[in-house]
Amino acid sequence: SANDIQYLRSKLAQYPDFPKKGILFEDILPIFRDPKAFQILIDSLVSLIKEKFENVDVIVGLEARGFLFAPTLALALGCSFVPVRKPSKLPGEVVEVSYKKEYETDSFAMQKDSIKPGQRIVVIDDILATGGTALAADQLIEKLDGKLLGHVFLMELDFLKARDRLQAPTYNLLNGQAEAPEGSE
Ligand code: PRP
Ligand code: MG
Repeated sequence: SANDIQYLRSKLAQYPDFPKKGILFEDILPIFRDPKAFQILIDSLVSLIKEKFENVDVIVGLEARGFLFAPTLALALGCSFVPVRKPSKLPGEVVEVSYKKEYETDSFAMQKDSIKPGQRIVVIDDILATGGTALAADQLIEKLDGKLLGHVFLMELDFLKARDRLQAPTYNLLNGQAEAPEGSE
C-alpha cells in the first residue's frame, strides 16, 4: 500500500559525498534494523513480483547489497535463490563476465550448475544506477541459458536512464517521486 511504501522510504538514509564527493549515497541498511520495515519490504516485493511475472523459478541476487534481501524474498516466494558473486569466491565450474564501473573494471561470476537451461529468472538488487551491474548479471544468465523475465530494484536513479539499456522489463519498489540528486550510488 502507499502507507507501506512511505514507511519504507522513511527508513532510507542519505549520505552526501559518500563514498566520494558529488555522490549522494542512499543507505538501505536502516530497513533491516527494523523487523516491521523488513517484513513490509519482503511482502511488497512478493506482491510486485507476483503482479508482474509468472512462474518465477529463481531469484538471482547480486553481491553484495542484493544479498541482504534476495534470499528472504526467494523463500517467501517459494523460489530458488542463486547468487551472482564477485570473482574467485565460487567453487566448481563458473561463468564469468567483466563489466565497467565508473573508474574500474569489475567481474561477476555464477556457478554453472546454479540454474538450469530455461529456468525463469528475476534479478534483484538494491539500486539501478548506470546499469552496468545489472547488465553483467543478465549476460551471466544468458550464458547459462536461463530465461530472464526482468529486474526488480528497490530504487532506480531515473536520470541515468539505465532502464533503456536493460532488455528485460524493469521495476522498482520505492521510486515514486525520488528526485534526481547530483548523482548517487
Ligand atoms: C552498487 C549497488 C548496485 C550497483 C548499481 O553496488 O548495490 O549493485 O552499485 O550501480 P550500476 O547500475 O551503476 O552498476 P556496488 O558495486 O557499489 O557494491 P556492493 O553492492 O557490493 O556494495
Ligand atoms: Mg551492489
